[in-house]
Amino acid sequence: MVQSKKILLLFYLLFIFTFLSCESLKTSKPIMPIKEYEKMIAGRLDADYVGTARCLSACHSHDKIKQDFEASTMGAQLSKKSGMPIVDCESCHGPGSLAIEGITPEKVEQDRKEGKQTACRYETLIDYKNLPAQALSLICLKCHTANATFNLHNWNAGMHAINDVSCSDCHRVHEGPDLRVKPRKMLDLCYTCHQEIKAEFSLPSHHPTHEKKVFCTDCHDTHGTLNDKSLKEDSIKETCTRCHAEKEGPFIYEHAENSENCTTCHSPHGSVNNNLLTVQVPFLCLQCHAGHRTSTASSQLERKGAFYTRCTDCHSQIHGTDIPSASGSGAFTQ
Ligand code: HEC
Ligand code: HEC
Ligand code: HEC
Ligand code: HEC
Ligand code: HEC
Ligand code: HEC
Ligand code: HEC
Ligand code: HEC
Ligand code: HEC
Repeated sequence: MVQSKKILLLFYLLFIFTFLSCESLKTSKPIMPIKEYEKMIAGRLDADYVGTARCLSACHSHDKIKQDFEASTMGAQLSKKSGMPIVDCESCHGPGSLAIEGITPEKVEQDRKEGKQTACRYETLIDYKNLPAQALSLICLKCHTANATFNLHNWNAGMHAINDVSCSDCHRVHEGPDLRVKPRKMLDLCYTCHQEIKAEFSLPSHHPTHEKKVFCTDCHDTHGTLNDKSLKEDSIKETCTRCHAEKEGPFIYEHAENSENCTTCHSPHGSVNNNLLTVQVPFLCLQCHAGHRTSTASSQLERKGAFYTRCTDCHSQIHGTDIPSASGSGAFTQ
């Protein structure tokens, strides 16, 4: 009796756990009209722009941020005509006059003597901590329009945008001077949210992403594409044959329409079977074909009894070939 209660409790917990963990990746707040997000990132209308120099001259607590920023591609953007910065702190944080009101070098010095850190009134700046993802991304998209940053063309329709993932989830603007996602860091970044994909790449047969030879972005564009699963190429076949060109064809003898979709037989990330196969040979083949026996005497196929061995030992050119088989048909044997 006690035992069964325990089991019930276990099931109950398991249920809640799975339910919650699915929720966290999938939940999406209703998407509002764009003007609502525009309002959230306008900043205080009664504040003025004061320029980065005035933001930072008095108070040195942001020195590291400033140095990193100046060394970054964004910070290095100066107008050719005026020599003025094109991107500065207020481009993203909103007008800063209210935030620095009353902060003078004297006050900073006084605070320092008292062992205090002078803080600006950051609550008058754009409130990043409470912005919905769409508004956060909009700050970046003001400048990184589809024209300026070509691969953001499909951002709004992409799965990340729709699922409340913002630019800042992947690009930590103040982490250091390099704003791009470094290839070597990419895996950890993706896995913070995509645990199930991590499990796939840990299976015995897998694309060598953990070995840092293949990257998620070889196949996917994280900014979204018009293709299924944000693949970089129009079709799965094109995605694969960028690297496995020898499988591209066209061959005189093709494996029917199978050759158009590599994932009929292969898992793209990882598999328990050799060669990333979705199902082991011969069972893979037996999903669509009957087994058979060969007799060297007649070179005819016999239907009585069959080899259930590795079909590909004989049908070694399973992806297609230009050479006919012994009977003159295309059975991928050579
Ligand atoms: C390209 C947009 C952008 C620019 C330019 C920018 N910031 Fe930020 N800042 C952000 C975002 C987004 C956050 C929220 C946290 C994050 O994603 O790193 C942030 C957070 C901060 C924080 C909060 C502390 C922290 O590290 O999380 C401070 C302080 C700050 N920025 C200061 C500055 C200063 C000073 C400048 C100018 C030198 C500046 N920012 C320029 C986008 C920007
Ligand atoms: C005021 C305009 C402006 C805003 C706002 C802005 N950027 Fe930029 N960003 C630029 C410019 C200009 C460059 C340098 C030219 C380029 O690479 O397109 C740049 C470069 C970058 C790069 C590096 C590109 C490279 O090849 O090294 C990244 C990444 C980036 N921005 C991300 C962001 C993110 C994330 C945000 C929002 C938090 C943001 N930007 C907001 C203007 C802006
Ligand atoms: C899911 C993670 C992710 C999100 C969300 C994301 N990026 Fe990126 N971004 C990347 C990665 C990874 C790269 C490196 C691209 C590569 O290696 O192919 C990149 C590259 C870039 C670059 C470099 C220039 C280029 O064309 O390659 C810019 C600029 C940029 N992103 C801006 C943005 C902006 C703006 C947003 C929000 C609208 C955003 N990104 C959202 C992961 C992300
Ligand atoms: C060799 C190419 C390739 C690489 C590398 C790759 N993917 Fe995929 N991924 C695919 C293909 C193809 C699909 C579509 C599968 C389908 O539709 O059956 C896919 C599907 C997905 C999906 C959709 C969910 C699913 O399982 O169908 C996610 C999420 C994903 N990949 C994330 C990642 C992440 C994260 C990485 C890096 C750790 C990565 N992928 C690396 C090819 C790749
Ligand atoms: C902040 C969390 C987060 C991060 C970081 C993140 N993703 Fe995603 N990703 C999501 C969510 C949420 C979805 C939509 C739900 C799903 O399909 O699982 C998604 C969907 C996807 C899809 C499926 C797209 C489609 O059209 O079906 C791919 C592919 C993908 N992500 C790749 C990546 C790659 C590659 C990285 C690392 C550069 C990455 N993601 C980083 C949260 C994230
Ligand atoms: C960025 C290049 C790249 C792309 C794109 C790519 N592959 Fe690969 N593939 C590799 C590399 C590298 C290996 C490992 C080769 C090795 O270990 O000798 C590999 C190995 C394989 C293997 C053998 C795995 C094993 O266990 O030996 C298969 C099957 C495969 N890929 C199928 C695919 C399919 C299907 C796609 C499309 C969804 C694809 N590949 C896309 C680079 C790529
Ligand atoms: C009808 C099923 C099927 C389809 C469709 C298929 N493959 Fe394969 N593939 C196999 C089998 C079976 C093996 C293992 C061959 C062996 O055991 O000798 C294999 C092995 C591979 C290998 C590793 C060994 C080698 O020959 O290099 C790669 C890479 C590969 N396939 C890529 C692809 C690509 C790319 C596509 C899509 C254009 C594709 N496959 C479509 C069944 C298929
Ligand atoms: C998804 C279904 C599917 C799978 C899985 C599949 N095939 Fe096929 N195969 C086909 C179709 C459809 C044809 C074309 C049928 C035809 O022309 O009679 C074909 C054709 C062939 C032919 C040539 C037939 C002829 O008449 O010349 C051979 C040989 C063959 N397949 C072997 C294999 C082997 C070996 C495997 C396993 C590695 C396999 N197939 C996996 C669907 C499949
Ligand atoms: C000992 C070698 C050998 C093995 C193992 C083998 N085959 Fe064959 N297969 C042949 C030969 C030889 C032909 C006739 C080729 C020709 O037309 O000249 C053939 C023809 C075929 C054909 C086309 C004729 C038809 O039946 O319509 C299919 C489909 C086929 N095999 C599927 C399979 C499958 C599935 C397996 C694994 C269960 C398999 N073969 C294992 C040698 C073999």
